[in-house]
Amino acid sequence: MYRTHSNGELRLANVGQEVTLAGWVQKSRDKGFMIWVDLRDRYGITQLIFDEERTSKEMVEKAKTLGREFVIQITGEVIERVSKNKNIPTGEVEILVKKLDVLNESKTPPFTIEDETDGGDELRMKYRYLDIRRNPVKESLIFRHKVAIEVRKYLSDKGFIEVETPVLIKSTPEGARDFVVPSRMNEGQFYALPQSPQTFKQLLMVGGLDKYFQIVKCFRDEDLRADRQPEFTQIDCEMAFVEQEDILNAFEGLTRHLLSEVNGVEIAEFPRMTYDEAMKKYGNDKPDIRFGMEFGELNEVAQHKEFGVFNNAELVVGIAVPGGASYTRKEIDKLVEWVKRPQVGALGMVYVKCNDDGTFKSSVDKFYEQEDLAKWAETTNAKPGDLICILSGLENKVRAQLSALRMELAERLGLRDPKVFAPLWVVDFPLLEWDEDTKRYHAMHHPFTSPKPEDMDMLDTDPGKVRANAYDLVMNGNEIGGGSIRIHDKATQALMLGHLGFTPEEAKEQFGFLMNAFEYGAPPHGGLAFGLDRLVAILGGQETIRDFIAFPKNNSGRDVMIDAPSKIDDEQLKELRLKLDL
Ligand code: AMO
Repeated sequence: MYRTHSNGELRLANVGQEVTLAGWVQKSRDKGFMIWVDLRDRYGITQLIFDEERTSKEMVEKAKTLGREFVIQITGEVIERVSKNKNIPTGEVEILVKKLDVLNESKTPPFTIEDETDGGDELRMKYRYLDIRRNPVKESLIFRHKVAIEVRKYLSDKGFIEVETPVLIKSTPEGARDFVVPSRMNEGQFYALPQSPQTFKQLLMVGGLDKYFQIVKCFRDEDLRADRQPEFTQIDCEMAFVEQEDILNAFEGLTRHLLSEVNGVEIAEFPRMTYDEAMKKYGNDKPDIRFGMEFGELNEVAQHKEFGVFNNAELVVGIAVPGGASYTRKEIDKLVEWVKRPQVGALGMVYVKCNDDGTFKSSVDKFYEQEDLAKWAETTNAKPGDLICILSGLENKVRAQLSALRMELAERLGLRDPKVFAPLWVVDFPLLEWDEDTKRYHAMHHPFTSPKPEDMDMLDTDPGKVRANAYDLVMNGNEIGGGSIRIHDKATQALMLGHLGFTPEEAKEQFGFLMNAFEYGAPPHGGLAFGLDRLVAILGGQETIRDFIAFPKNNSGRDVMIDAPSKIDDEQLKELRLKLDL
């Protein structure tokens, strides 16, 4: 037997017992005739003591050879500590070691295995197996497991069945690029890895499974960010014979269950907001509603004077920054620089200080009277002591810029408390999105999303105005899930693909299998998919998903530990017909 107990287990009640423990050497303290070693495993740390007097000189000499991260096994007696450590659960006892076996030596690790490590991101990823020994990473993985178990329990109890769908599929367009896999047996042909199991889950509904879910890997060849990985996991769900309301209720239930079970937080009904309202109030379709700072549109109260910048703008819009009137000139200049960075892209920023005495001081005092500024304060809901930040320009751009500023300021002001959870449904998304590059409409969600029946007429006349039965679940400014009611008849699906620029032949080529299935009694259906990595990160109080993934990729999509992607040899290339001139 390698061990009788874990390293997180022993207490005063065990004093006097002989125990065998195994684990890694966290650190040791050498007093010459006495050595203390902290022994670590997944469950905690237990202090070992090697003592010349109470055991032997050899034992102490052997302990002196132990280095950090050596794997050892010891047998000894549990004794009460003289100086207790209240910070760890095993802190009242230590083990007087009588037998020590080194199971494996270790090179000195390239970074410290501590909660706060000296290792940078790349180094930690290269030696991810060492990083996983650190508490924060280990805890994140355990936390992810907890969430996944709760998801499976909850959905299974509600009658959902988990079904596995294939990983080698035909490409389904969902907005990102596919990763493709060459087929050896079918020369010149490729599988695609699924961006999501979208069409398969719809076919499962045609198959009559009624309620499906799957915790499933998805693959998207897109640029990476803190909340994006090229392979990530969805909690993918679909239901038959449902309307949007049924879906929102079902998955609000799941989210509420998770918040309660995992975080101990009870949340009443989730607020709902239309896409249009979210864009107007927050300039963003995934607003963080833990704090206010809502947009105030100022065209009416700012475009009547000689200030050309505002007069020529499509939109003049501002936010009130709580307490911002006390910012120094230098601080405000820095803010202006911040919005002018290429990542944000504003041309400049107008500001108004709302003084405590009810007067205003602005960067455009030349053009505006106090009563003008008072109206701006009213529109942006600014109080005495606040700073109003105003941007202007093209509507879509300006909203995005002000949204970036709002999030940045909230972060600086500590308004984005990771312990507060503010879920929100954003509904009534536009069906289509104009793409300037290709000069045509794309499906905002995916081509299988159903238009709102009452908007169908506008498909020919004003396609950009058509709303979809599509919704996102947003939490703390992050999109953690999204879905829609689907088209379930062939004619509408064909019509939609036509609007998306597919010829009937292309539509048949790519989606014939789905449209054929729709001819055999497809039930009305809809669903949603959560991003599990994002959900877990947000519930865990973070926005970077990397530490909730055991072996993540870096920002260039590389796994620096196994060094992938990598070249394959000529023989393989030849076999796959990817290189013929051999
Ligand atoms: P969608 O594309 O909105 O919908 O994806 C669903 C959720 O998956 C998460 N997500 C990601 N997480 C990490 N890295 C990525 N690269 C990444 N991309 C997406 C997000 C997102 O909300 N088939 C549809 C769902 C449906 O209609 O039912 C779909 O995949 O949290």
